[in-house]
Amino acid sequence: MGVSRSRSLRDVILIFLGAMAMHLTSSFLWSSPDRSPESIIVKTSVSSHFIQDDYDQSDIVIPPAEVMRPVVNAQREASKERDATVQNPLLSVEPEKIDVAYELPETTIVAHAPGWTLFRNLYMSNGTLFIVSSEPPSRFPDIRLITSTGLAAENTPENIAARMPTAQDMDFLTPAQARARWGGNPDRWERNRVWSVEGNTYLFNDPPQFLNHYYHFCAELLVGAWAFWQGAFNAVVDPSNAAVTTAPPVHRAIFAHSDAIGWRDRPGFNAYFLRAAFPSVTVEVEDDWEDRITLTSATGVHARAFHFDTVLFSDRSAAFRGVICGSQNQRTAAEALEYMQKGARLTKWWWEPVRRGVLRFAGVQEAELDIGVKADEAAAALNARPFAQIDSTRPGALIKAQDIVITYISRQGARRHLIDEDHAALVLALTDMCASKGWELNVVQAERLSKEQQLALAARTTIMLGVHGNGLTHLIMIPVTPISAVIEIFYPTGFAHDYEWTTRALGMRHYAVWNDTYHTYPDAPNVAYPEGFQGVQIPVYPPNVVQIIEDRIAGRVPGH
Ligand SMILES: *[C@@H]1O[C@H](CO)[C@@H](O)[C@H](O)[C@H]1NC(C)=O
Ligand SMILES: *[C@@H]1O[C@H](CO)[C@@H](O)[C@H](O)[C@H]1NC(C)=O
Repeated sequence: MGVSRSRSLRDVILIFLGAMAMHLTSSFLWSSPDRSPESIIVKTSVSSHFIQDDYDQSDIVIPPAEVMRPVVNAQREASKERDATVQNPLLSVEPEKIDVAYELPETTIVAHAPGWTLFRNLYMSNGTLFIVSSEPPSRFPDIRLITSTGLAAENTPENIAARMPTAQDMDFLTPAQARARWGGNPDRWERNRVWSVEGNTYLFNDPPQFLNHYYHFCAELLVGAWAFWQGAFNAVVDPSNAAVTTAPPVHRAIFAHSDAIGWRDRPGFNAYFLRAAFPSVTVEVEDDWEDRITLTSATGVHARAFHFDTVLFSDRSAAFRGVICGSQNQRTAAEALEYMQKGARLTKWWWEPVRRGVLRFAGVQEAELDIGVKADEAAAALNARPFAQIDSTRPGALIKAQDIVITYISRQGARRHLIDEDHAALVLALTDMCASKGWELNVVQAERLSKEQQLALAARTTIMLGVHGNGLTHLIMIPVTPISAVIEIFYPTGFAHDYEWTTRALGMRHYAVWNDTYHTYPDAPNVAYPEGFQGVQIPVYPPNVVQIIEDRIAGRVPGH
């Protein structure tokens, strides 16, 4: 995501962290693998109590270290000792390969929230994901909060039952049981039949049902995955250096229940975002996953498994079994993000690396990418807190009038839209307001613009407004400043959390407009889809919208 200069700085940080992580892990485990800087794990919960635990130890043979230390490791051990003395982590970039080793590293969970789990050393054989551990299953989260059968969701009792995971989806093995299946008995100098999938994998367990929408893929799945990934690694983003992150890179994304078309949306933003923000990610889909299943379906002496080094596993049905997503806001990403926020593990600019990756790809210039950071610096200089009283006409105000951009995304060409006269009156009122204040106004129909034009506009928008709908997904590209906001117009009494939660998650204010009134956090209405919600007679009273915008830009506290 960075130019070569910034990337090299990030690499230095990663190598430094990698060296620290290696030092920490090697003090826990006598057989610590050499970690490449690509696969650092900052949280080193690979704890020694897994070996000391007295649960079900009778059948676990733990040979003395000399017996298990294979000859192939001798050279690496020597170089590791050298590393320890010369402190040069570049000498140890060669990753550990499970498939030539004599031992299987145990599965650990670095972080978990309903629907989102970051594993180290996860195994897959014949379509079942295996947690290999000498810990009892009760020490792990309930698998219903990790995974599902990957079927499309319907709101029927039969379907809810059919999505409940079984031992065929995810199961537990002790190390002895794993060796009994896949070989690797050190007493017999037998190598295992486990093949390593190195590096960092995002494993998405969802069917196309919600993958093939711009909002659900980019603003929900990617937002959730990135928040969880950043938080799990306690990543720090440096806004003054092109928003480079200290989080490790992602090497592959696997859509286990979707074909190649299934994760793509019709306008093409999903592929655009994934390739722009993560240009080196390799994508595997259902067919590829089926290959891995078929190749590990044999029994006896040909029983095999794949070993995944580091996996962020996500499952929509499992997220809905969590309290936040299931009963508060129906946002799978909320489970990931709020878990990390509660632990204070997300830093302010956590989304910025993805946002910038996409916008730089779209051709947006650096100065515009910095709008949020610059406003933040100005706010600090003015000692202004968000929502504090700021006089926008005062010299040196937070954002100059000519830099304020109001973007109205019109849906008049789509099925759900405003009453035609109300739309016309709204455009007139916005035009008057912007002319008198010196602000820029854009009234756009997204489908008439190229992807680049849409993204470039979002990248400089201060306040985005429009009727509830997919076009508002571009809010994830708005620069976050103390006055940024999204105004979403609903059919009166209608409400959904899609854009409301997402706007707030990114640090902006959201207003739900019902004609001549509005709601804003913490005054959120109940989710409702009244008659008329999807229709073409949605009313809006323009003076209400104008007042919201003027108050927001003047820094007046909402509702006061
Ligand atoms: C592999 O999985 C299928 C079901 O998906 C099952 O019928 C079969 O028995 C399994 N094979 C082995 C060796 O476990
Ligand atoms: C919208 O609000 C205006 C101003 O209060 C009112 O005159 C109009 O009747 C309202 N429209 C609807 C459909 O409620």
